Amino acid sequence: MPRITAAGKTFECDQGANLRQVLLKNGVALHNGQSKIVNCKGIGTCGTCAVQIEGEVSEPQWRENARRSLPPHSLEKDRRLACQTCVLADVTITKFDGFWGQGDRMVW
Ligand code: FES
Repeated sequence: MPRITAAGKTFECDQGANLRQVLLKNGVALHNGQSKIVNCKGIGTCGTCAVQIEGEVSEPQWRENARRSLPPHSLEKDRRLACQTCVLADVTITKFDGFWGQGDRMVW
């Protein structure tokens, strides 16, 4: 089972599990500030679940690429949308500041 390290915690999930669901299930505060309330609940349209990922995950699909191509995100930046990402092996997740997680200061 892949191991996920995020926000000072380490836990396991099924291979192919949805990263947003796994993080929330394990008590990780994935969304910053008011985006905890105002978000698309995982359909890939709001962009607030953006994280940096080290490790093997699924390739981005058209929905994620479409949202990440719009400000404040950018396809040039090393962020992924957790709700559109499946975990394939051990990963380390980092969250950055900003409503969408688009900032440069690490939150966890
Ligand atoms: S929760 Fe809205 S894009 Fe991921």
